Amino acid sequence: MFVVNWWKKLYWNVKISGSKNACLPLLVASLLVRWKVVLKNVPYIWDVVTMLEIMWTLWVQYNFLDDTLFLDTSKLSLDNFQASRIKEIRASILLLGPILQFFNKLSIPQPWGCSIWKRPIDWHLEWLKTIWYDYKYTDDCMIEITWTKTSWDKVINAWFSVTSTENLVLANVLRNWKTIIKLAAIEPHVMSLINFLKLAWADIYVDYDHTIIIEWVGSLNNNLWYEVISDYIESGTFMIIWALLSREYIDIENARVDDLYAFIEKMREAWVKIDITWNDSVRVRRSTSLKSVSLQTNIFPWFPTDLQSPFSILLTQADWVSRIHEILFESRLNFLVEIEKVKWHIAILNPHEALIFWKTNFKSWETLTSWDLRAWVAMVILALLIEWETKITNVNYIKRGYSNFLEKIRLLGWDVVEE
Ligand code: EPU
Repeated sequence: MFVVNWWKKLYWNVKISGSKNACLPLLVASLLVRWKVVLKNVPYIWDVVTMLEIMWTLWVQYNFLDDTLFLDTSKLSLDNFQASRIKEIRASILLLGPILQFFNKLSIPQPWGCSIWKRPIDWHLEWLKTIWYDYKYTDDCMIEITWTKTSWDKVINAWFSVTSTENLVLANVLRNWKTIIKLAAIEPHVMSLINFLKLAWADIYVDYDHTIIIEWVGSLNNNLWYEVISDYIESGTFMIIWALLSREYIDIENARVDDLYAFIEKMREAWVKIDITWNDSVRVRRSTSLKSVSLQTNIFPWFPTDLQSPFSILLTQADWVSRIHEILFESRLNFLVEIEKVKWHIAILNPHEALIFWKTNFKSWETLTSWDLRAWVAMVILALLIEWETKITNVNYIKRGYSNFLEKIRLLGWDVVEE
């Protein structure tokens, strides 16, 4: 892919698409309904398509009409299940909960995702023991999970892990016992899953201290309609692009302002001008100068790890030394090596901390790359900053998680060509 210079701005606004990380658990939750589910505002991205293809091997029928997805999960069966495809996306670990609800035995491989370190699933496997499943690794590197006995009310820790919390909710919502999930993640996509299940008559209560209480219900309501929330990570990404690169202002619609409170506060601390306008929209203006800041990622509602890499590119243009502390994933600072390629001054202190030094001019004809969706977006922003043609490889990463991203960039005025 090549990114060329400023071209001509066609649009003054950008509309944020449905969220990948909200949509994937909803697809899986539809398995629990065992009937028809309609999802609106579904992003047409590779991770969603891959999850649907995996679910198709579970006899799930689906049909897209624009951004509306019609699902029929009534014929759920393991007869043709291609468990090997679980390797392809990390979120496929969510299939465990619903499948084990209806079938007593399952073999799966270890799921993979972006290269942001080893991405363990130990917590997912440990809670299986809590609800009386046994698991073992077999010689062909599969994880074999078997039901051992029925159980009673229980308290399980999710350690603030997003997919562990989602998996625990999905695995326990139809069980005939009471489940208390402590140390639960409450990211917007976790809450969207809970709201979907509540709409289907699940009995779930979320307490202010990260506790989720699930009471047993016999079955879920069928014929559900539900709208996928828009993607607060995409929204934050466009705020960064505009703060760095625009010549005027931009309006961002479906911005998920409430989910981005910590992020917007950090942007303002860095002297970016963001006005919250109307109906969940923001107006972002280019900043003539940017101030360096110290940043730490953390669980919601703190600064999201998925916006750390694009925000780091913004900090390359700040006036002094910025410090980044990425506490969740060990390899999420690796992309900074790409910035070094274009002669930027950074210091990686350890796998979790780095310093970014003040503004100089980028000088390079380097080809950039990334093995992590969010860092790939950071490479696009870097390419837009470098004022001549830049090539970025591994273009498929962007297709995994952002709906029409390159098209939106074009409409905002940059010439982007995919080869
Ligand atoms: N962890 C473990 N053991 C486990 C599970 C997690 O040690 O069994 C650790 C992880 O290694 C990490 C921390 O817990 O250090 C938090 O990981 P979490 O489980 O919350 O991450 P995740 O559920 O695998 C989701 C998103 C990620 C996002 C993180 C953090 C989905 C499908 N993925 O991952 O999104 O970065 O939460 O908010 O929802 C992305 O979209 O690019 C992406 C990576």
